[in-house]
Amino acid sequence: MRSETAPAIRLEEYQPPAYRIDTVHLDVQLDPAATTVTATLSLARQAGTKAGTPLVLDGDELTLTGLKLNGEELGSQDFTASADRLEINAPPASPFELTITTQINPGANTKLMGLYRSSGTFCTQCEAEGFRRITYFLDRPDVLAVYTTRLEAPKAECPVLLANGNLIETGGVAGSDRHYAVWHDPFPKPAYLFALVAGDLAQVPDRFTTASGRDVELNIYVEHGKEGLCDWAMDSLKRSMRWDEQVFGREYDLEVFNIVAVSNFNMGAMENKGLNIFNDKYVLADPDTATDQDYANIEAVIAHEYFHNWTGNRITCRDWFQLCLKEGLTVFRDQEFSADMRSRPVKRIADVRLLKSHQFPEDAGPLAHPVRPRIYHEINNFYTATVYEKGAEVVRMLKTLLGDDSFRAGLDLYFDRHDGQATTIEAFLACFEEAAAIDLSRFALWYEQAGTPVVAVQSEYDPERQTFTVKLSQEIPPVPGQKSSKPAVIPLRFGLIGPNGEDMDLSAPEGATVSGDVLVLDKAHQEVTFRDVASRPVLSLLRGFSAPIRLSQELQPDELLFLAAQDNDPFNRWQAVQTLAMQDLVRLSSLIRRGDSGKPSEDVIRVMGSVLTDTSLDAALRAQALTLPSEADVAQEIGKDVDPDAIFAARRLLREAIALSHGSELLPLITSLAPAGAYSPDAEAVGKRALANRALHYYAASGDDDAARLVWDRFVAADNMTDRLAALTLLVHDHMAQEEAALDHYRKRHEASSLAMDKWFMTQATAPGDRTLDKVRALMKHPLYDSSNPNRVRSLLQSFATGNPTQFARADGAGFELVAESVLAIDKRNPQVASRLLTSFRSWRALDPQRSVLAESALLRISSCEDLSRDSRDIVDRTLQ
Ligand code: ARG
Ligand code: ZN
Repeated sequence: MRSETAPAIRLEEYQPPAYRIDTVHLDVQLDPAATTVTATLSLARQAGTKAGTPLVLDGDELTLTGLKLNGEELGSQDFTASADRLEINAPPASPFELTITTQINPGANTKLMGLYRSSGTFCTQCEAEGFRRITYFLDRPDVLAVYTTRLEAPKAECPVLLANGNLIETGGVAGSDRHYAVWHDPFPKPAYLFALVAGDLAQVPDRFTTASGRDVELNIYVEHGKEGLCDWAMDSLKRSMRWDEQVFGREYDLEVFNIVAVSNFNMGAMENKGLNIFNDKYVLADPDTATDQDYANIEAVIAHEYFHNWTGNRITCRDWFQLCLKEGLTVFRDQEFSADMRSRPVKRIADVRLLKSHQFPEDAGPLAHPVRPRIYHEINNFYTATVYEKGAEVVRMLKTLLGDDSFRAGLDLYFDRHDGQATTIEAFLACFEEAAAIDLSRFALWYEQAGTPVVAVQSEYDPERQTFTVKLSQEIPPVPGQKSSKPAVIPLRFGLIGPNGEDMDLSAPEGATVSGDVLVLDKAHQEVTFRDVASRPVLSLLRGFSAPIRLSQELQPDELLFLAAQDNDPFNRWQAVQTLAMQDLVRLSSLIRRGDSGKPSEDVIRVMGSVLTDTSLDAALRAQALTLPSEADVAQEIGKDVDPDAIFAARRLLREAIALSHGSELLPLITSLAPAGAYSPDAEAVGKRALANRALHYYAASGDDDAARLVWDRFVAADNMTDRLAALTLLVHDHMAQEEAALDHYRKRHEASSLAMDKWFMTQATAPGDRTLDKVRALMKHPLYDSSNPNRVRSLLQSFATGNPTQFARADGAGFELVAESVLAIDKRNPQVASRLLTSFRSWRALDPQRSVLAESALLRISSCEDLSRDSRDIVDRTLQ
């Protein structure tokens, strides 16, 4: 029989907890196979709870070995216990103390939720519902308690003992080889922010003085031998701490801030109070093993987790429906931090690329859900691009609508009013309504409605009356569970560009709310007329991507070319180049699909040529403009009856045509842009490497021997991972003669670095060509493949499923089969990794009929599995619905 779908949890059914937990004392006797946890909870009935109401605590795979109420052993008639539940039948009327002893087996915990071991280190992951795998508890974010944690372990095996808060006591255990540490966290927190770490780790120390002069001890803990890979993470941490003081007025609040890097981690990182635990890929870096992108990711994730201290920890979520309250806001904050550290337009382009490639497809397929969902079966499946990235866009729109000062005033009010609380999106928005004296009830729809609004634009210039009229309309295409929608409040940043390339000075138009350069669209249809417009302007709309929408604007090729060359908004300049390329790729794909041979547009080739040679533009921006829309982006634009092979061929054709026309411009870019001096991940050096490698990517497309030689030479001579990986990717993805030699060379050089070897697996898994499938199967048997390591699984299988459209969606169905088999195998040990891999099927209905039938049968095969985890059951059910 098919496994059951977990019961639905609904926002409208929220009930406050019947009991309060004020303090938690944990005593953890660490042992790889039999860890004993004694939890002493001080509990009290909430006002409004009837006397005698049973106390029901959550558990998950727990063994109860002791239970006392106010120090007295509880009789078996007074409670019922199972692995996932502990019920105290009739708790006393006055506040009482419950002492619960559980035994757990961290060594056997392959789900990596709760207490588990990563390369011998004890560590925890409690968000969302992992604490209940450690002890019975009211495991919900609106139960806030003050924690004191005593850890005890053999001193030789676990010299390092860490938990949340400040260290208050350490010592040896008399007559044994054990020692202990006691940590106290004075800030009330929900259980999902609990953490402990114990093991033999190296400590990289530093210090930080806060704005008000308090001295904070900083540490990064890593495996021995990796101390030298922490400089960038530590530097990023200190810059994050300073920035949050300067930009948001938020200071750190404990005596110590610890970060631990572990190699087995389901997600990116976790913001546990005072003890952040990280996937080591977001901590460890040196120029030889980390790319520029890795450096940027580390900076962003370190900042993200640090920023959670205020947006997430000091103020947390009332329930898991409010996840975007902490995640959307914190992503917005880390995006702003990175923008301030680097180039703002380049960062914006990167964020929008990510949004369009991850969130837009999610929002257009069977897994679409509102930024604040109303129903879930498994909360771990809602750590999505919609909650995180679209959630950040909503905060960004709020800032655009309110202006910088009111936005800051609203946030200050939020920090002030809700510090120490578990709260909601409504409470968050109310702070901005008050601070800015504005009604946000319609804006709040962004949290309620799924789907990406499509905004259609038409414009008309009347030379006699000197008016320019813009007609706008908006609509959200139907998504699961949402057939109709209401008009959203959409801030559109814009400019009217005159023939001289300058933005025109505008007097307030009729028909819309316009403040400064922002036009607010808030009706289904709206017409806006600008007066005294002396000549026909070109409308530059959605500057800076001011709203997460799709724009359907019929711009003529000459207008797009004009914007690509003239727009004062760097984002829209980039967008114009992308739109030109996209239009051509869609056209070429459909020609190829019909068996015709297409010829790339001269306009696109010319525009790419001017970007290549325009030295007035920032190198990073040029590299971004020269990067063609991805295969997935084009598939999304086409929307239905998608043939990935045709899209691949279209991109290849355009790339070759650009290479052929601009051969002579490419070579100097490749050779002359090397940043001088030692490697540095600063914006300028990163931009130069990106442009040189983009030029190399085109140059290699010529396919001649000189090009192949140059790629190989750069591969061998590279003194940093960015250049080495760029060359390796070309050698492997273009199937150059030295493909295998390069892979060998790389493997020998980087065998000892697990993070560098992830890139080796990924490069092969994402190679086009029908030999890749067998290669991936062979790599699953490689001695360095480890199906218990989430990073390794993602580098091979997730990147195959999401980064190799032609091979995942092979016309013979073998790609789908491989991923389905893998999901089923992984699901048995780690449901979160399996269900994440399973989401790679989310756009299956958009494929051509032959492929979608094959995808469906792979999904049905997964669905028919009898003992699927609730994580994978939830995703497969929704994907097939
Ligand atoms: N709060 C973490 C972050 O955004 C993510 C934790 C997600 N964990 C999970 N099991 N779903 O930084
Ligand atoms: Zn987060």
